[in-house]
Amino acid sequence: MHSYNTVSWHTPAPDVGMIESMVQPGRAHSRIYTDERIFQLEIDRIFSRTWVYVGHESEVPNVGDFKTRVIGRTSVIMVRGKDAVVRLLVNRCRHRGSQVCETDSGNTKVFRCAYHGWIFHLDGELADCNGPEAYEEALDPKEMGLTPVPRADRYRGFVFGSLASDGESLTDYLGGAARMIDLLCDASPTGAIIADGGTHKTVFNANWKLVGMDGYHPNTLHASVVAAWGRNPDGGLGATHRESPFVDEAGTRTRDFGHGHVMLDFRGHRIKHYDSLTGFLRRIPGGEKYIAEMHAKHGEERARLLISLAGDAHLGTFPNMQLIHNQIRIITPISASKTEVTMMAVRLDGVSDEMNAERFRQQESFYGPAGAGSPDDSEIFERVQRGMVAEVNPWIQISRGMGRQKVDTDGSIVGLITDEVTQRGILRYWKQLMTTP
Ligand code: FES
Ligand SMILES: [Fe+2]
Repeated sequence: MHSYNTVSWHTPAPDVGMIESMVQPGRAHSRIYTDERIFQLEIDRIFSRTWVYVGHESEVPNVGDFKTRVIGRTSVIMVRGKDAVVRLLVNRCRHRGSQVCETDSGNTKVFRCAYHGWIFHLDGELADCNGPEAYEEALDPKEMGLTPVPRADRYRGFVFGSLASDGESLTDYLGGAARMIDLLCDASPTGAIIADGGTHKTVFNANWKLVGMDGYHPNTLHASVVAAWGRNPDGGLGATHRESPFVDEAGTRTRDFGHGHVMLDFRGHRIKHYDSLTGFLRRIPGGEKYIAEMHAKHGEERARLLISLAGDAHLGTFPNMQLIHNQIRIITPISASKTEVTMMAVRLDGVSDEMNAERFRQQESFYGPAGAGSPDDSEIFERVQRGMVAEVNPWIQISRGMGRQKVDTDGSIVGLITDEVTQRGILRYWKQLMTTP
């Protein structure tokens, strides 16, 4: 596939007024998905300012374990130091700027730059500058170490970085969305997840803002998968999905927590299927014990919710993390019309291997490289991108359910599962950031 770009010599450069006018009540201009100059502004005003998800601490359990990820355009290394602290370091040699780490993940004692051989410790400090006698004054190892990402913080092992040295705290930024991250972690009887299930990546020719958080499409786009769940009501996903969640108006919601954090809320729907899910779990070794431990720890009401939901928070935290089914997903924008999605299946700590294996198989069935659902999504995102480049009548509709959305008791804006509360929530915050110089 080729990639598409609508920018041509006669298209005016985007300014604040233009961006302001491109997201209106119930509609958005398709150029916000196709214009490379708007994309560059997104890198500057969104990915360089907000809290961007980098990785989970459990991905780097041992001293020297590292992952390389990006915040906007900036390559960063998430690494566990000798003091067991997980740090975020900018992947840029302090000599003349080469990346010092070229692999996605691994374990190392030091980072050695391939260009002139400068060596950095796991905490970033300069260990050796390959010929120190050439400097009149000795280089300060701290001063000349790998630069820490200006701000780094974590919530329940989820590590976020911000390239802006000032701004609101991670707690304030996540707001009500943090309680939804809990839904994944608390599915484990110890309250911990382990993101060591490997990663798989997919790249498609479409804009990063199109990924996920749409409760209106599954019954059409994923009709074959929804039908398959219904045919196997006692096993796996069929136990909780026997009735399509996307037609259960009473049990499902879309939510907007502010800051662009949005959720497809299946809690009411899943809890109705508690009995069939626990019936299924009891047939898996360790399932009975799990159910008992969850009840002992959380009490009847919360345990029923956590078991039914099975960790599927179905949450998107803006701009780049989604917790969907059994995976952490990182959305990496490459250009206006190209996006990489990295998916990491997680294990629940404290449950049997058989239970985790079952969770992995379910995950793969929809999201895996040969899964039944993800390829539908990648394909439709590319079709959307190809449609969006049309300059005639360029407005897209995001008005579904606008008249019936309400503010819920938890402060979130709430609508039906097929309503475009989530799209509006994302673009409202997008516009706020993009119009702030
Ligand atoms: S650029 Fe890294 S040692 Fe020279
Ligand atoms: Fe989908």
